Amino acid sequence: MKITVFGTGYVGLVTGTCLADVGHDVICMDVDAAKIERLKQGEIPIFEPGLESMVTRNVEAGRLNFTTDAREAVAHGVLQFIAVGTPPDEDGSADLKYVLAVAGTIGEHMDDYKVIIDKSTVPVGTADRVHARVAEVLKHRGVSVAFDVCSNPEFLKEGAALEDFTRGARIVVGTDSEAVRERMRECYAPYNRNHEKLMFMDVRAAELTKYAANAMLATKISFMNEISNLAERLGADIEEVRRGIGSDPRIGYHFIYPGCGYGGSCFPKDVQALARTASQVGYEAELLTAVESVNKRQKVTLFEKLSRAFDGDLAGKTIAVWGLAFKPNTDDMRDAPSRTLMEALWAAGAKVQAYDPEAMKECRRIYGERDDLVLVADRIQAVKGADALVVCTEWKEFRTLDGEWLKQQLAFPVVVDGRNLFEPSAMKSACLMYYAVGRGDSMHQAPEAS
Ligand SMILES: NC(=O)c1ccc[n+]([C@@H]2O[C@H](COP(=O)([O-])OP(=O)(O)OC[C@H]3O[C@@H](n4cnc5c(N)ncnc54)[C@H](O)[C@@H]3O)[C@@H](O)[C@H]2O)c1
Repeated sequence: MKITVFGTGYVGLVTGTCLADVGHDVICMDVDAAKIERLKQGEIPIFEPGLESMVTRNVEAGRLNFTTDAREAVAHGVLQFIAVGTPPDEDGSADLKYVLAVAGTIGEHMDDYKVIIDKSTVPVGTADRVHARVAEVLKHRGVSVAFDVCSNPEFLKEGAALEDFTRGARIVVGTDSEAVRERMRECYAPYNRNHEKLMFMDVRAAELTKYAANAMLATKISFMNEISNLAERLGADIEEVRRGIGSDPRIGYHFIYPGCGYGGSCFPKDVQALARTASQVGYEAELLTAVESVNKRQKVTLFEKLSRAFDGDLAGKTIAVWGLAFKPNTDDMRDAPSRTLMEALWAAGAKVQAYDPEAMKECRRIYGERDDLVLVADRIQAVKGADALVVCTEWKEFRTLDGEWLKQQLAFPVVVDGRNLFEPSAMKSACLMYYAVGRGDSMHQAPEAS
């Protein structure tokens, strides 16, 4: 099929590339000319495992092309995927200006039937707004061209995006049109061989499904963080509690890890946007508001633990930070807990010495060159000459630690582990002051210089 994808970010680039990989003829369009130029040179602007070789393979096969030319992009596909950003507006609701801009572009250039597909995460009612925008532009042009708008939310996770796109649990399509159902079946047929994954539903149900899924996952995280804060104060070990509840099949082990709060480009903005949608229809979504506020509080706990360990005096200290990305296997630092920590450290007069396997370029892009941010080549360099260590991201390479060695490196034997990677008993026997999440730590003892 001839397919056009608007937006070449995490979702657009993965969608376009995966659809080309199964033989579709794809054009990806972006308004960011520099990004398109890099993509044409075979350079991938984001880190996503496996994506680079897949892009190269499909570009070479002539099935995947990149353009900034809106006319060419609209003329190409019978399917027009909208996969642009939906950042939060000032009041927390999803800002639809990019989505509606694409709708306007499609309306401006279309000359034959199109299926316009909302793949971006958009509030309930957006398909109607996209429809109205396209119709308005067509009317302005004085032409009449048939089109349909459907919802096809994306559930991929950064870091496992290709696997999720190609082997996802479900493909949700919201439409009431048989013509759309037929074309979407054809588009996704290569991914629908093992068993039926296509779920056709009403447009509004599809739009809400995406928000409900993210809100549910965010709720699981905030719930565990809430219980971990309780465990810490009650002298219980949250890791034992996690295993204890995860063994119940009604609860399960997935997504119940306590930590330093969720980040990334989706959960924070989507929970907020859903709460905002609720208030717009006169419903106060108390649970969603609580999920968000628990998360905000959790992100501050790394700094609070560190600050308490140093009796509130972090001025002039050098803090080693392992992990900058909001989760492993991505370079994405949007809303990452590491940012809350670093910004608080800088405000307190401390210096950050950080390492991340993939996100250091992104970190430099966000914060620029500054004296209180040193980015180093590996985790060992990060702790050299540092006063304390904080773990922000559970990258695989951080999961083993020689406590004795670490004690030699740090000026103060303080480790704040935002991901519960290490065994408290091993840390204790290395004489480290170990502050994890929800694990009855030695929080109230002041460290002595080693
Ligand atoms: N990142 C994820 O893990 C993920 C997962 C599922 C759903 N989503 C949703 O998918 C959407 C896109 O997210 P993302 O992370 O890929 O965003 P992103 O910010 O990485 O990429 C968006 C891209 O759209 C481009 N763009 C903006 N206006 C455009 C226009 N008029 N025409 C063409 N391109 C335009 C931007 O230049 C940018 O390259 C969002 O709604 C997000 O909530 C994201």
